[in-house]
Amino acid sequence: MWKGIIDHYREFLPVSDRTPIVTLNEGNTPLIFGKNISSRLDGKFKLFFKFEGANPTGSFKDRGMTLAISKALEEGSKAVICASTGNTSAAAAAFAAQAGMKCMVLIPNGSIALGKLAQALIHGTIVLAVDGSFDDALRVVKEVTQKYPLTLVNSINPYRLEGQKTAAFEICDSLEGRAPDFHFIPVGNAGNISAYWQGYSEYFKLKKSDRLPRMMGFQAAGAAPIVEGHVIEKPETIATAIRIGNPANWQKALSTKEESKGLIDKVTDQEILEAYQILAHDEGIFCEPASATSLAGFLKLHHQNFFEDRKKEETLITLTLTGHGLKDPDRAIKTAGEPHVIKPRMEEVIKWM
Ligand code: F0G
Repeated sequence: MWKGIIDHYREFLPVSDRTPIVTLNEGNTPLIFGKNISSRLDGKFKLFFKFEGANPTGSFKDRGMTLAISKALEEGSKAVICASTGNTSAAAAAFAAQAGMKCMVLIPNGSIALGKLAQALIHGTIVLAVDGSFDDALRVVKEVTQKYPLTLVNSINPYRLEGQKTAAFEICDSLEGRAPDFHFIPVGNAGNISAYWQGYSEYFKLKKSDRLPRMMGFQAAGAAPIVEGHVIEKPETIATAIRIGNPANWQKALSTKEESKGLIDKVTDQEILEAYQILAHDEGIFCEPASATSLAGFLKLHHQNFFEDRKKEETLITLTLTGHGLKDPDRAIKTAGEPHVIKPRMEEVIKWM
């Protein structure tokens, strides 16, 4: 039986027999072959989507949170706190509930997706909607944890990245030791790209995988501080999960880019929404808008002939889809349109055939 990432990857994680494991059996998410998208790419690419929306709270945050909350409990902490664009708060709320710990989350008022807000609220967390941005919320949370004994569970907490690196292990395990040539991933606070790189590097060193991928991070164009090289005071994007102007793991993301010979680039909201629809229409995968940034990034580079020099080899590409589409139902309906309302009569159905 799958009992979560700590149980499965225990030897690679900073836990001991004394660590109480708080788990929702997260991880072991599907690596889905994008057969329709791949077949349109002249047989040169194999695209595999790591669908992190299949985690218990619907995003990759569960991997980091199982470890962060377990370690907080081990260290005797009674309460946790984080700032969030939504998914971290949903995961913190759920794992804190299981651990019996108090939890406080600070979210940017009015700009987190509906599903995420519902999640944070239903677990009994104290939800504070800050009149400001995610970056403002994170600054306040850091101040609070310097003065009061609450454990910070944002990705500055090293256990978060340790947990999140297991997604890279799972990819190599699913591909039987063949690591991807390129890994595409959305970048917000820039923790996850760093965690994947750590995971890929550790596996490669232990000869559990055959190569190191180039890490390809993508920000939303209106919230691309790493690409622009400066803090963005008022980040804007429909991909609210990555609406961040001053990423906490900025330096780590830059090292990841350099060490992996990868890049950090940006895609427009329109490119993100196109990729979001392609995934839903062509592959049957419903992810949230921010997650589609990874495919938007791949398609952008493909159109720019970025992969020209790889003509002869088949290229294996993995792309992280960070969160479930149900997180943001408003965006789905805005994008796809409302249903057709009809009278309960057969003729009315036939009209639409
Ligand atoms: N995709 C989704 C769906 C996210 O929720 C996030 C981050 C990212 C991508 C970017 O990951 O921050 O590690 O670079 N969400 C955080 C939150 C900020 O509060 O839920 P990152």
